Amino acid sequence: MIITIDGPAGAGKSTAARGLAQRLGFTFLDTGAMYRAVALAVQQAGISPTDEAALASLLPQLRLEWQGGRMFLNGQDVSEVIRRPEITELARQVADSPSVRQFLGQLQRQFGQRTNLVTEGRDQGTKIFPHAECKFFLTAAPEVRALRRWRELRQLGLNIPYEEVLRQQQERDQRDAQRCLAPLQPAPDAIIVDTSHLSAEQVLDLLEEHVRRRLQGNANR
Ligand code: C5P
Repeated sequence: MIITIDGPAGAGKSTAARGLAQRLGFTFLDTGAMYRAVALAVQQAGISPTDEAALASLLPQLRLEWQGGRMFLNGQDVSEVIRRPEITELARQVADSPSVRQFLGQLQRQFGQRTNLVTEGRDQGTKIFPHAECKFFLTAAPEVRALRRWRELRQLGLNIPYEEVLRQQQERDQRDAQRCLAPLQPAPDAIIVDTSHLSAEQVLDLLEEHVRRRLQGNANR
């Protein structure tokens, strides 16, 4: 069974996807971490994120592994470093590349063939797993999402003013929504959940209830 969770940054996708996977005994996949790992590789290689030819020749040299909720690039655990703001920005640019989207899309589909999956990102329910059994689109008010990101950055030891975090987020939201390839939008059959006034636990309960009902429905068919 494939469960997709899409939505903008700060909507609580990662927490929900990780928790839901744990409750159901499914594998959790963070596809944003994959885009971030490619961005890190691009930075290390010193190539431009808009140089499509350079990206296309870099990709086959990369070994991306997602294991136990951690991201590995060529054997190195990069889970923390890919959260840094400069990688966030680079990841957004890299995510516009057709070669990168094709490369990562293929990896993500392979994952889905191997195991029961809760996968989170921007295009999982629309482009990568259009036939997923259960699709969610998580959203929240921009101010709430920015506050969550601001707290996350503070935990990384980065003191960026809240207003700046909000401004950058609005810019990214706009670009994510307008991207030609895989723009951020809910799948027509996605359940939309506004997490602004819900705790992580409440979101999780709500999602689990939907999935259990879907599983029950499948069993009764
Ligand atoms: O979710 P996260 O902030 O980690 O995503 C990093 C970048 O990768 C974002 O710019 C996002 O738009 C992009 N992304 C994407 N498709 C996905 C997951 C992430 O374009 N499935």
